[in-house]
Amino acid sequence: MTRTNVVSTGFYVPERVVTNHDLEGMMDTSDEWIRQRSGIVERRWVEGGAGSSDLGVQATERALEAAGLEAGDLDAIVLATLSPDVYFPGSGVFLQRKLGIKGIPCLDVRNQCSGFIYGLSVADAWIRAGAYERILLVGTEVHSTGLVKTTEGRDTAVLFGDGAGAAILAPTDADDGRGVLSINIHADGTYAEKLWMEAPGSRYDPWLVPEMIEQGLTKPIMEGREVFKHASVRMPQAVKEALEAAELTVEDVDLVIPHQANYRITQAVQKQLGLPDEKVVSNIHKYGNTTAASIPIALHEAVEEGRLKRGDVVCLTAFGSGFTWGAALIRW
Ligand code: ACO
Repeated sequence: MTRTNVVSTGFYVPERVVTNHDLEGMMDTSDEWIRQRSGIVERRWVEGGAGSSDLGVQATERALEAAGLEAGDLDAIVLATLSPDVYFPGSGVFLQRKLGIKGIPCLDVRNQCSGFIYGLSVADAWIRAGAYERILLVGTEVHSTGLVKTTEGRDTAVLFGDGAGAAILAPTDADDGRGVLSINIHADGTYAEKLWMEAPGSRYDPWLVPEMIEQGLTKPIMEGREVFKHASVRMPQAVKEALEAAELTVEDVDLVIPHQANYRITQAVQKQLGLPDEKVVSNIHKYGNTTAASIPIALHEAVEEGRLKRGDVVCLTAFGSGFTWGAALIRW
């Protein structure tokens, strides 16, 4: 039976490091508050003039090189972001153009922190159906240009960072058991306003006027405690569902890579699943929350650091705005 293999990964973060102490100079916050509540020590911000497709190109080039492929070898692009270069078209076409290729489909996925898992679910279905062979899956975000970097925006501004991660996916028929074993994706729109940015939007006529900016409608809004409560329940649920579908147990998992939302959420997920520290990846101290990019960045680092080896079982899980959530189980 055809399965989807992750052929290679790549990641990119901007060079500019912004520490919690740097943020103290912009807003009323403290290194202690940020560390205690989120585990974040520093994050990367673009220098300006770079959109999410620019970071995506860098991550893609590294993934292509690792796979020994060229952009022209790709059959499809799936790009997940909540911070597209422009309102429309999607960032996938800008990424395609910067890679110097034409004709192949570009799908933008708008499922925020769950974007990489949603994108993987689509790419996996395409591959198993025989629609496309080599699919580029990218999670990429430029948050820094949209954050309100004053005391007014401190509840969210301290949490998010810029970055991109990429994976190249291809079919395998090998009997080594490697590849995607199961994926589940979920949503509950009841909670859409718990983590959202209201404007610009088509329900307003016109979509954006200066008063909407003044009213804070273009500022990301998050009910932190509500997000915490749901994230720490939904991710373990999705992991268990993915394991059941593949007829495996938590003991069979070598590594869990949760979306890097907040270290305290990661700890809650770990506790619910009864996993030791060495089986759970956390790199939020370095990059903050990079939304759709957090899982592919962490995945790439886990491979580079030798924490994920050929034949290991890895579980990716995400939760985010929507609310949306899901998990993917892969034998590496
Ligand atoms: N620096 C200093 N003080 C701050 C900051 C800041 N950056 N932000 C808020 N505060 C203040 C608040 O104004 C409040 O002050 P007050 O008591 O005088 O009113 C105080 O700190 C406590 O605020 P709370 O919102 O109650 O803080 P809480 O302890 O709930 O922590 C946090 C907030 C970290 C967001 C927490 O709710 C949490 O961990 N939520 C999980 C959500 C999350 O991390 N989401 C990540 C993005 S979403 C995703 O990826 C799925």
